[in-house]
Amino acid sequence: MQTSETARLTIGTNNYDFPVVQATTGEKAIDISKLRAQTGYTTIDDGLANTAACTSEITYIDGEKGILEYRGIPIETLAENSTFIETAYLIIYGNLPTRKQMSDFSQKVLRNASLHEAMMHFFDGGFPFTAHPMAILSAMLNSVGCYYPHMVTNHREQDLEHFNDAAALLLSKVRTIAAMAYRMKNGLPMIYPKRDLGYSQNFLHMMFTEPYHEYYPHDDITKALDLILLLHGDHEQNCSTSTVRVVASSGANLFSSVSAGVCALWGPLHGGANQQVIQMLEKIHQSGGDVDAFIAGAKKGDYRLMGFGHRLYKTYDPRAKILRESAEKVLQVVKLKDPLLDIAQRLEEKARADSYFIDRNLYPNVDFYSGLILKAIGIPVDMFTVMFAIGRMPGWIAHWYEVASQTKGRITRPRQIYTGYERRDYIKMRNRDGENSSDYESDEHKSLGGGSSENASARA
Ligand code: CMC
Repeated sequence: MQTSETARLTIGTNNYDFPVVQATTGEKAIDISKLRAQTGYTTIDDGLANTAACTSEITYIDGEKGILEYRGIPIETLAENSTFIETAYLIIYGNLPTRKQMSDFSQKVLRNASLHEAMMHFFDGGFPFTAHPMAILSAMLNSVGCYYPHMVTNHREQDLEHFNDAAALLLSKVRTIAAMAYRMKNGLPMIYPKRDLGYSQNFLHMMFTEPYHEYYPHDDITKALDLILLLHGDHEQNCSTSTVRVVASSGANLFSSVSAGVCALWGPLHGGANQQVIQMLEKIHQSGGDVDAFIAGAKKGDYRLMGFGHRLYKTYDPRAKILRESAEKVLQVVKLKDPLLDIAQRLEEKARADSYFIDRNLYPNVDFYSGLILKAIGIPVDMFTVMFAIGRMPGWIAHWYEVASQTKGRITRPRQIYTGYERRDYIKMRNRDGENSSDYESDEHKSLGGGSSENASARA
């Protein structure tokens, strides 16, 4: 909201005053929307680390204090009391559902669990077995929209009219597509969702049930998976959510926008880190478990300690705290003594006592322990980032809605500071490589009509 305060910028002998806006929680920001118009200057902010690209009512993070809240409710309270689907409702609609709203929403999610049969053909030779499930997920989420053309008109008003259906549909389909991608990649027969199972239980059913053997997960396993999804529900303007918002700002539909979010999430510095953490822990394990040597390499800059550090958290990521406890519990339930948990805990202990990590405020993030839980559940490593995507779906949906429903929303179009060549001449091909090449012209050049008239007419 606007305050009475202003911020003064002095450039040379000129002073310019800019409005100061304030967040609900007190932080202040200088509104520079009119900066260029008033001064002729723009700003440059590497990685947008100091730039609030929007206002948002969905998630609050205090990185210094380790606070994360969805719609004002602390993550620890939700982790203890809520479920992924209830939290998804909260993130998307802004309030906890009443009993009736919850029941309607769950039913809607359930009803949309199956894929259109035509889509099943994608899994029958449409992708190579070597395809990464994130590539499959992104392509399939965009394709889902093709089967519901009334929801993907790219006209804001029409797309918003169908928002409730599209939101429930996406929450449901992302789970089914993820499980189907796993089964296809492993040459397993497709298992359809069941109407009488909850969200996370249905996912485990679609992943692990065999035609000759029904899979019944232990309650604590289902809860652990649900908790992981809940903790990933939203995280304000992270890379993938910002991507969703940028795509949405062009007026693109919900399906295309979240599909772009999946692509952004895939990178190892973002959601791809959970896969990299397990690979890192396995590497340390295979080379004898020398945690000190591994930390030394990270300090030298040879590689990063995956699952450590965060743009916002300068203390322990509150999600990692919850997941550390959950990892210990899950490993007890599955009666697995995973040596990687011990390596992870030793790595954390050493890193947190080391001045390199202390000085840079590098603490475990959400990805550090989530992989250990997923591994214990039996989810393969290349599916880890897909699990993150399922969890992040409510956040992407809520942010798409926030952008699409703004009446005065503008397309996102940052400026740049151009550092390339100054204007220069076009040099004809024959003059580029010296005198001897004067007769040479590339096939590309000829096909564009740049060849001799004789050749051009022969081709025509
Ligand atoms: N291991 C070792 N050094 C690190 C690490 C790390 N994981 N993360 C940051 N640093 C160092 C970095 O080298 C730099 O040092 P110096 O000041 O000497 O150059 C300093 O810390 C600041 O790093 P930065 O790259 O400017 O920090 P950032 O805010 O741009 O990056 C990050 C945040 C998460 C990309 C980064 O910490 C990282 O690469 N972590 C490992 C990947 C990872 O775990 N990603 C998951 C993030 S949480 C899930 C999500 O929301 O996506």
